[in-house]
Amino acid sequence: MEVVEEIAARLGVRAERGKRFADLTSLRVGGAIDWVITPETEEQAAAVVYELDKAGLGWRPLGSGSNVLADDGDHHYIVLNLSDMKGEVHIDGELVSVSAGYSLPRLCIDVARAGLSGIEGLGGIPGTVGGALWMNAGAYGHEIGTVTEKVRVAREGKVTEIPGDSIEWNYRHTSFREGELLLGATLRLKHDDPELIKARMDEVKRKRLASQPHGARSAGCFFKNPPASSVGTGKIIDEMGMKGQRRGSAVVSPVHANFIVTEGENARAEDALALAEEIRERVRREQGIELEYEVELWRAKPLTDYTEKGAMSDERADRSSEGGQS
Ligand code: EPU
Repeated sequence: MEVVEEIAARLGVRAERGKRFADLTSLRVGGAIDWVITPETEEQAAAVVYELDKAGLGWRPLGSGSNVLADDGDHHYIVLNLSDMKGEVHIDGELVSVSAGYSLPRLCIDVARAGLSGIEGLGGIPGTVGGALWMNAGAYGHEIGTVTEKVRVAREGKVTEIPGDSIEWNYRHTSFREGELLLGATLRLKHDDPELIKARMDEVKRKRLASQPHGARSAGCFFKNPPASSVGTGKIIDEMGMKGQRRGSAVVSPVHANFIVTEGENARAEDALALAEEIRERVRREQGIELEYEVELWRAKPLTDYTEKGAMSDERADRSSEGGQS
């Protein structure tokens, strides 16, 4: 039995081979994954990563895969799929506790019904709570970090709580380190009239439907907005006339130019990447602006020393600044 199977069996979690990032990400591209492990509780997830670290096996956490572009190669590491680690939402006054695998749009609806305000702007972001925390998701004037009272992380195999104000919450970026597994959070929201909250959510939904592609295979905005420019990336790309531009299976969305969408059965990550680099090159040349990726690029590791025992030669997968939950 491989080491991974042994750990999964001992901890009672599902471990599968034969999955591809194309099955697990919203862009529907990306190559094969050695193992996908799917814990269902925070305790299980904490125990799994402790065992994987001890065995020197590389892993990366993945939520709903809605902000990840994984390349087409074979990814020789373990993906910790957190989308089944949903738990239940616990509401205690203005405090809301939720697991990382819970759907962010669902959470927004749950708390709105309970008359709690503070995240209604995040309503249409198609990710998990963990992914939102990892990158401080924001939209329409709300950011998750602003309302995060505590975060639960995995430490030494246990679920450990850390204060929200010990984290730096920046624009689409936080001080969480690679190798840190986010398990859940307690948010502090504010009581408000459910009707008013719903009206604000409806307004955000209307704006989003009018300005962003709906139902298309995307990872949301591909690039961050440039810090020193008053004009957003979408507008910059749009004004260069690039809407509808295509590279194989990847297209600049005709609706919002900062979205790259993929099409077809066998869409390729390399098409999306080539298109993205073409955009960056033109923006660099014509505007003197260096666009930074907002989506995470997950590179396949070159095949090194993967043995029958399931040991990987490098202690961890490449978890550079690009890795993380989404
Ligand atoms: N615009 C264009 N053409 C386009 C896209 C936008 O002219 O193709 C114009 C719009 O008309 C508007 C301005 O650019 O006047 C700003 O556009 P928008 O309101 O869509 O905001 P954004 O800056 O493009 C940001 C976030 C979105 C978030 C919205 C709403 C980033 C990179 N993007 O978009 O986040 O939903 O504000 O708050 O920060 C994401 O994170 O994946 C994402 C989509």
